[in-house]
Amino acid sequence: MNAYDSDRMKDSLLPLGYQESKDLQDADIIVINTCHIREKASEKVFSELGRLRKVKERAAEQQNRQVKIVVAGCVAQAEGEEITKRAPWVDIVVGPQTYHRLPDLVAKLDPLDRRHLIDTDFPPETKFDFLPEKIGKRGPTAFLSVQEGCDKFCSFCVVPYTRGSEFSRSAKAIINEAKKLISSGTKELTLLGQNVNAWHGDGLDGKEWGLGRLIRELADLPELYRIRYTTSHPLDMDDELINAHAEVDKLIPYLHLPIQSGSDKILHAMNRRHTALDYIRIIERLRSVREDVAMSGDFIVGFPGETDKDFADTINLINKIGYASAYSFKYSARPGTPAADKSEQVLEHVKSQRLLALQQLLDAQQYAFNKNCESMEFEVLVERKGLKGSKLNARTPYMQSVYFEGSESLIGKIVRVKVSDGRQNSLFAEIIS
Ligand code: 5AD
Ligand code: SF4
Repeated sequence: MNAYDSDRMKDSLLPLGYQESKDLQDADIIVINTCHIREKASEKVFSELGRLRKVKERAAEQQNRQVKIVVAGCVAQAEGEEITKRAPWVDIVVGPQTYHRLPDLVAKLDPLDRRHLIDTDFPPETKFDFLPEKIGKRGPTAFLSVQEGCDKFCSFCVVPYTRGSEFSRSAKAIINEAKKLISSGTKELTLLGQNVNAWHGDGLDGKEWGLGRLIRELADLPELYRIRYTTSHPLDMDDELINAHAEVDKLIPYLHLPIQSGSDKILHAMNRRHTALDYIRIIERLRSVREDVAMSGDFIVGFPGETDKDFADTINLINKIGYASAYSFKYSARPGTPAADKSEQVLEHVKSQRLLALQQLLDAQQYAFNKNCESMEFEVLVERKGLKGSKLNARTPYMQSVYFEGSESLIGKIVRVKVSDGRQNSLFAEIIS
């Protein structure tokens, strides 16, 4: 979502005469978009700001140029004024729900006045109604935010506080944005939301729609090739969405559905409001309509009170489901969240051991999944040049990164490839048509 927000902030500065700078040293304004989800991500912001201070000072000394520095995103929201106290060279602090005001804030900055402008409101208006109509260039694949914020309040998570409460854009606004993206060359959309499957926006018929219905409507856009969505919550996986996986060809057979832990005791303490069995049942329902669906998830190890037995439950669950890929993290106590104050915090070295064991298992599952794809054929949308030589890069319908030889003129086109080599993190293939 930060990638999407960054693009929209960029779009919002275009009417002011700004354009994207290829080199940090040439920039007149630097916007750093930030993540508050874990301590590590949050702390990175301040080391990055230290680096930007030097860029700003050099421009002032050597070129008499006043570079403006903006901190946006969830760290901006959570820390507000703290940022300008710790890093007084920051000019603007803007939260994830007020970045449509960025052009006004930039215009208001007075180069001779050292005051900082801070806007971390949760405004009554939605930024989506105030962002410029015109969208800058996007690639063959693009993100589209359909839902934002979260009302679930998992006890470890800052999102409900930084992104605010749940909000669903209307189907009309989403479809209009999809059409704009498609006319700028996008062929594949990833629908985004912190709880994307909790989307319940106004439908085109005046009734409230769910995500499954929205996906069906988007799939009718003839030039759209493929649809993905992320990230989902188990409680919002309804039948309409599950059935869309069987009925909508353009929807990829892949689901990122975080569970966080396989222990019911920990799930309860996390305030997830579902059990491990509820989660397994959802995946069984999904696989009964779409057998080949590839699963992905998120896991947290070392949540307060997690015992060896609880951790073993997580390992058992992973063995039962079989993941094509997954993300895993050590629990990070976030200020202001209920879990941060719990007394039974798990020792750091125990968290590290558990993370290692969990990642070994997930890596082995991912490797087996990729290996199993050898000699399979996939239709893929060529996204970009590969890192080395003449290779191109795409994603399979199971979201694996796949590399193959081919001319750059194929970027944005659809080709059929046959997988020759399945490795840990990617596939290698040849174009067959
Ligand atoms: N500590 C560790 N991981 C976290 N996540 C969210 N909050 C925390 C935290 N405090 C993880 C969850 C979530 C993903 C986006 O980040 O797994 O699904
Ligand atoms: Fe955070 Fe996701 Fe839980 Fe919402 S559902 S509180 S975003 S982990």
